[in-house]
Amino acid sequence: MAALWGGRFKKDTDEAVNDFNASIMFDKRLYKQDITGSMAHARMLAKQGVISEAEKDSLLLGLTEILNEIEDGSIEITKEYEDIHSLVEAKLIEKIGDVGKKLHTGRSRNDQVALDMRLYTRDAVIDTRDLIISLMETLLSMEEEHIETYMPGFTHLQKAQPLTLAHHLGAYFEMFKRDESRLWDIYDRMNYCPLGAGALAGTTYPLDREYTAELLGFKGATLNSMDSVSDRDYLLEYLMAASIIMMHLSRFCEEIIIWNSDEYKFIEIDDAFSTGSSIMPQKKNPDIAELIRGKCGRVYGALNSLLVTMKGIPLAYNKDMQEDKELSFDAMDTVKSCLHLFNEMLGSITFNKERMEKSAKEGFTNATDAADYLVSKGVPFRDAHEIIGELVLFCIAEGKCIEDLDIIELKAISPKFEEDVYDVISLKACVERRLTKGAPGSEAMKKVININKDYLKSIK
Ligand code: ARG
Repeated sequence: MAALWGGRFKKDTDEAVNDFNASIMFDKRLYKQDITGSMAHARMLAKQGVISEAEKDSLLLGLTEILNEIEDGSIEITKEYEDIHSLVEAKLIEKIGDVGKKLHTGRSRNDQVALDMRLYTRDAVIDTRDLIISLMETLLSMEEEHIETYMPGFTHLQKAQPLTLAHHLGAYFEMFKRDESRLWDIYDRMNYCPLGAGALAGTTYPLDREYTAELLGFKGATLNSMDSVSDRDYLLEYLMAASIIMMHLSRFCEEIIIWNSDEYKFIEIDDAFSTGSSIMPQKKNPDIAELIRGKCGRVYGALNSLLVTMKGIPLAYNKDMQEDKELSFDAMDTVKSCLHLFNEMLGSITFNKERMEKSAKEGFTNATDAADYLVSKGVPFRDAHEIIGELVLFCIAEGKCIEDLDIIELKAISPKFEEDVYDVISLKACVERRLTKGAPGSEAMKKVININKDYLKSIK
């Protein structure tokens, strides 16, 4: 292995130590960020007179060629180098000779890797946010389509009160809206450039850190060199945001799996997003939803792992921090692919409206409305609750819904029932009379959909 530190050592590093210490096999994906950072550093060094304009041009040319050659495969990233930073520097020196050795002036791999990882995470935030926005677009158009698709709402997975599919989907819309704004918050907080912090204590070269930050699209330079090289909060925040996104996706998947079951049959997932069984010919399994639910574990795992890695590290850089990469990269890949596939799968679902409506009618989901009706006739709510409880028992014994009983049967339970009760306990009435802000009635629902349409326009 071509080491970066020959002078101080009398012996070569042990082969197993090299392997254990190296990060190239996973930090190779930072090649673009590493080269972009180096280009900005070279420009800044020239602007400050630390290197000449001609040296800067030569560095930029060499770095551009390396970038192209990595992308077209002519530079192969192998275990010969410890990490991506050493590889780029070595290739640069190979290409442009001694000038290449000037690139690392006023820089350490500690601030270099801090920059690379931050640039990479910043891009991951943008990609994740874009995927969330597409998912919200799918949800909003489905909501518009299903303002009058009735279904039971559940608590304790027991039928509770009727609502609409639009309203149910709208609950997830609000979750993803918070995810989107959380990503925006963390982007803002991470958008400061650590380059120029050196190994830990800055440098004696007259670097213009604000200029480097500006070249790289940051809001500014970080304010403490020790913190700059040892901060991984931005990554933890991304992993936290990703974990919450996964939790939302997983809850949604759980519902999709339930709705898709033979017992519910609320939905049909398109064949393209289902799989069969090797033995049971009748099976069509919701594997994608199950896998997304399952992949939550690895994203939470990455968050937990980095929290534990970071908790005992004294200032400033320590090699423990190299452990920030593998699981974080995996979590970034996972959350992005889950968001993408979930969106596609959701768009492929067909809803069995009749069955959903029938299910809402059958579960006494209008019991609260029937009690509220008695309250409107002067019965105290506690008594009304008791009366409707008896009514439900009677219906269960008769195998009927409340609205199937005739007025004589109803009056036998409470004389307060009149013909107008049927106007308030029909499924449609139960939903449509719920018009408080955020409730499922179609007028209330339409208002929220409009608010959310404006919101989607405002964030694009
Ligand atoms: N591969 C290292 C990492 O990912 C790069 C920084 C190494 N710095 C050092 N002083 N050993 O953290």
